[in-house]
Amino acid sequence: MLNNYRPTWAEINLNNLRDNLKIINKSVSNKEIIPVVKADAYGHGALEVVSYLMTQNISLFAVSLLEEALELRNSFKNIDILVLGAIDSKQLEQASINNLIITIYSYDFGLEVLRSSYPLRTHLKIDTGMNRLGLKSLSEINELVTSLHEDSKVKLEGIYTHFATSDDNEMFMYRQLDKFKSILIKLKEKPKIIHVSNSSAILKYENTFDFTTHARLGISLYGLSLEKNIDVLKPVMTLKTKIVQFKRLEPGECVGYGITYTATKKERIGVIPIGYADGLIRKNNIGHVEINGNIYPFVGRICMDYAFVEVDEDITYDDEVIIMGGNIVTIDKVAERLETIPYEIVCQVSKRVPRKYIGKDE
Ligand SMILES: Cc1ncc(COP(=O)(O)O)c(C=O)c1O
Repeated sequence: MLNNYRPTWAEINLNNLRDNLKIINKSVSNKEIIPVVKADAYGHGALEVVSYLMTQNISLFAVSLLEEALELRNSFKNIDILVLGAIDSKQLEQASINNLIITIYSYDFGLEVLRSSYPLRTHLKIDTGMNRLGLKSLSEINELVTSLHEDSKVKLEGIYTHFATSDDNEMFMYRQLDKFKSILIKLKEKPKIIHVSNSSAILKYENTFDFTTHARLGISLYGLSLEKNIDVLKPVMTLKTKIVQFKRLEPGECVGYGITYTATKKERIGVIPIGYADGLIRKNNIGHVEINGNIYPFVGRICMDYAFVEVDEDITYDDEVIIMGGNIVTIDKVAERLETIPYEIVCQVSKRVPRKYIGKDE
């Protein structure tokens, strides 16, 4: 859908993305970053983000779904794409034809990969305590690694694990790390590519890991983090709109569905063309927007396509209304408002909202 007609858009600042990558690259000096661009690059637009990162000499990207990998492959023939998620053995042909790197996430799936007749590129995922995807048993891991090395059509290029608590439980993170290292030491053949860190671990620990070659960077590429005391990152997304109609209310007049808001004085209301179908979920009605460096409250219920803010006489049709990603109404603040994490906030911005990229050609 071409949807540039209404004044609602998510600005994606690629200069900020580049700066975040630079900052992170400095802290992991000799490791290669694997940008995680699943879920449409956390709502930022995977095709644009990948296309931009290719100009920054990045060639290996991670997604979750086979569908996401195929979408990337359709546009980019020369990048490496690691599928982090679980795929079905029926999809091995697709993975092979499209030169994808798949994750061997269980012993049984590993056997299917070995049994298949397709040439396949793989990473092996080790479950060190999160109990999501991955192999746990050392004997199964060793058996698979040996068989994969002996197999001429399947390449075991990498091995990895995923931390459950790199943001908030260092002890558990180290327990997972130690488990992973103890498995690595016992492997008869070690794959070339070894990665463990997500954003929080990259920011805090990766430079102390001497056995990894790569790190998987998700949320902090987009300038966000669960780390409270890291303020060098620059948020990449700003969700913006403009007022399409002003209303003057007399005391006692109401606003919106359910007439849940009643003016107590003479008020000026701005109707903004953004609603829950765009990802501005109804619970946001307890929050504020940012206009010209000031905050203004939502009033009434958020509708599917519209919401209401109480504004003063200074505000005009030309002013940008920042829903999130501003200096005051940050993505972190919105996450706090909704009692969630910034990941969910950026992923929530729906496909209906056009992304406008700035900094592309600099
Ligand atoms: C396996 C895996 N690696 C890396 C990441 C990136 O994590 P983050 O966004 O915290 O950097 C994710 C995200 O959920 C993941 O599932």
